[in-house]
Amino acid sequence: MKTVHVPVSVPYDVAVGPGLLEGLGQTVKALCPKASRYVLVTDTGAGPNWAKNGEKSLTDAGLLGDTFTLPQGEASKTAANLIDLLNFAAAHRMTRSDVFMALGGGMVGDLTGLAAATYMRGVAYVQCPTTLLAAVDSSVGGKTAVDLPAGKNLMGAFWQPRAVVCDTDTLGTLPEDVFTAGCAEVLKTAVLFDPALFDLLDRVGKDFDREAVIARCVEHKRDVVAEDEFDTGRRALLNLGHTLGHAVEAESDFSLSHGQAVAIGLAVVCRAAAKSGICAAGVPARVDGILEKFGLPTRTDAPFPALMERMLSDKKRAGGKTSVIGGTINVIVPEAIGRCIIRPMGTDQTAAFMKAGL
Ligand code: GLY
Repeated sequence: MKTVHVPVSVPYDVAVGPGLLEGLGQTVKALCPKASRYVLVTDTGAGPNWAKNGEKSLTDAGLLGDTFTLPQGEASKTAANLIDLLNFAAAHRMTRSDVFMALGGGMVGDLTGLAAATYMRGVAYVQCPTTLLAAVDSSVGGKTAVDLPAGKNLMGAFWQPRAVVCDTDTLGTLPEDVFTAGCAEVLKTAVLFDPALFDLLDRVGKDFDREAVIARCVEHKRDVVAEDEFDTGRRALLNLGHTLGHAVEAESDFSLSHGQAVAIGLAVVCRAAAKSGICAAGVPARVDGILEKFGLPTRTDAPFPALMERMLSDKKRAGGKTSVIGGTINVIVPEAIGRCIIRPMGTDQTAAFMKAGL
């Protein structure tokens, strides 16, 4: 097992390794000694494989609990399901000392985190990520949210988990395409911060050591989050590939997964950076090559004006929520593999930059 400490306003540990769900109850008891009940939130993907393990461990530790299961997929990340979960917790007499458990991928973690942030003005929660994407990104850092009809993650809060328990055995039951999608966030981390990790992944492909690579990615995320917990500066780096990626994902009507869309965004931004002379000419070929090795896409045939329209309405645009004219987009641009910068660009500049990378 590897442990990564996250020194934020409410510090916590991320544990990564096989078989960790077996010790979940003891972890919760140690961290929340006054807890007597839990609500375990899961989905129809992770729940059938792993909820029993979590429930047994929590029950063995003397906690009483109930499980709330959502249909798998981003479509469940709604305000309506958040309210249903809060009502469920209230109906099951959950108190301020009790604890939510998030057992699943990013949708489950984000929605459960927001329930924890708001139930009785804030209670504890523990993230148990069961997808690679959640393990290396969404379960760490305290971003919680649900989607609104106007866009993704528009209703949310920063609320740090009390612990992250990443049982790497859960990755073994993931459908191949879901695991592959998570690899896009691993490759994003390597391009952002870690040339040695990039080289390793280039050598071994998807056959990487789960525990070591997840812990390494979490360390990188920890460093950023510790410096910029509330996302006012450097944390924007984590959006590498996401500016175009979110647009590609939405424009595909979510037939492309988040990971596939991020892979395309990553490839485009690398090609664009090379064309602008910001990174060396050889970087895009290396990034395209590794994405292809992992079975991830590198190009989109979505119409560029539609992608631009979506990029400009993305909530990450700074400088005016309603006015597109004069808005600035913080584009994350690679200077080299392992080194990226945040470059604010006007809308015309963003359009020209991205178009060069398509
Ligand atoms: N997933 C990006 C962040 O946590 O800031």
